Amino acid sequence: MNLAEREMEIPASEPERQYYFIERARQDLEKMKEAAGRQLTFCVTTFGCQMNARDSEKLVGILEQVGYIEEPDEEKADFVIYNTCTVRENANQRVYGRLGQLGHIKKKNPHMMIALCGCMMQKPEVVEKLKKSYRFIDLIFGTHNIYKFAELLATRMESGRMVIDIWKDTDKIVEDLPSERKYPFKSGVNIMFGCNNFCSYCIVPYVRGRERSRDPRAIIREIERLVADGVVEVMLLGQNVNSYGKTLEEPMTFAQLLKEIEKIDGLERIRFMTSHPKDLSDELIEVMGQSRKICRHLHLPVQSGSSRILEKMNRRYTKEHYLELVKKIRAAVPDISLTTDIIVGFPGEMEEDFQETLDVVRQVRYDSAFTFIYSKRTGTPAAAMEEQVSEDVVKDRFDRLLTEVQKIAGEMCSVHQGAVQTVLVESVNEHDPELMTGRLSNNLLVHFPGDESLIGKLVDVSLDECRGFYYIGRQI
Ligand code: SAH
Ligand code: SF4
Ligand code: F3S
Repeated sequence: MNLAEREMEIPASEPERQYYFIERARQDLEKMKEAAGRQLTFCVTTFGCQMNARDSEKLVGILEQVGYIEEPDEEKADFVIYNTCTVRENANQRVYGRLGQLGHIKKKNPHMMIALCGCMMQKPEVVEKLKKSYRFIDLIFGTHNIYKFAELLATRMESGRMVIDIWKDTDKIVEDLPSERKYPFKSGVNIMFGCNNFCSYCIVPYVRGRERSRDPRAIIREIERLVADGVVEVMLLGQNVNSYGKTLEEPMTFAQLLKEIEKIDGLERIRFMTSHPKDLSDELIEVMGQSRKICRHLHLPVQSGSSRILEKMNRRYTKEHYLELVKKIRAAVPDISLTTDIIVGFPGEMEEDFQETLDVVRQVRYDSAFTFIYSKRTGTPAAAMEEQVSEDVVKDRFDRLLTEVQKIAGEMCSVHQGAVQTVLVESVNEHDPELMTGRLSNNLLVHFPGDESLIGKLVDVSLDECRGFYYIGRQI
């Protein structure tokens, strides 16, 4: 077949087009394997959040169909893909550090390819730097065209030169592409993409684009398939799940979606993240209170306890509103575990503001909290704000916050001592092969004697001994 004929047979619609390119990449890989005289392997390394983790599963799904074999050790793999994050500056630094090392390894392996994708690639200055200083990279793409991975891969294999494809934004959602799961019994499920909130410190709306919700029928269909394939727990994913459905042709609320998902037979547990306090509705609280399947855990990022700082952050709620929400949730779901994200050192944060944050932590009594030092992201409104807080002041506040958060988390964990609860068994304990690790509905981990046959099952355990942030238990 000549080139023109080959171009003509390319399907124009998705996902058919990508299935065509999977087949083409498979043929290309066959030739590469022949030349190497062995199988070729891949390793996908994921940075950042659960949205990225889910994207990586889609990359793995395609790579396996193309015929690559998974190799967990990055240094031994023939094709290394970094799915990057750029939410804080240290996320970028880690990628550059590891890329340097990869460059040395690539010199010794003539069959090696390196691809970079994800949020960091949406920043033009990053791509410029990679093009200039990291010439050994084979393929660069962004967050909006990740569904085109098979096509880009085939293009790289056939052209033999560096391929770069980044889109500024998209309104497209491509369904029904292959995907692999890390765990057979649980899975993330995207319900929406992008973010429209523009919190003033945050880069995500710039690198993930405008908010778009997936069609509820596509979500339900995906979950039904997952359940038929052995999944008992899903984590619904979106930057702001509480505003799900607003962009649909037939709008629906997140609470309504949850009710539909609850009806799926065989599905045992439903989790979701992340909830934005400004959009957390009474309807959702009610659905959570009545549900049998929604887990007793709500991640509700507060970011700061100071209404003054919250306004500068463009979070669109106050300290009082947040505390009110917490009260309502605890009234509707008394055994709920609450977790949060907190940023210290946002521009203009004074000691009084920080004290307000400590006050919220003490009033809410979080089961755990992710604490972050504010990181300046070029292009966001906060980066241009004056009064950036000095490093030693931030460090001191961060340490004080962490001490408080950990003290309370330890106390919150210990209240379950002696109770019997259900865990979903996830894995063999990393440190002790005699123990299995399971997760409670409220997200706490329990380690208990058992064997591998329990993985993926829901079993009752007695919570015998609290060890700070987890339990040692026994199967009942
Ligand atoms: N959509 C989610 C959060 C996504 S980012 C939400 O709105 O809650 C995850 C967390 O990273 C945020 O909750 C915030 O605490 C933190 N974060 C985001 N940008 C940051 C920055 N510039 N510096 C420090 N932490 C940041
Ligand atoms: Fe970032 Fe705010 Fe969107 Fe979360 S809601 S991703 S913090 S802009
Ligand atoms: Fe990072 Fe992108 Fe997630 S910036 S936190 S990987 S959406």
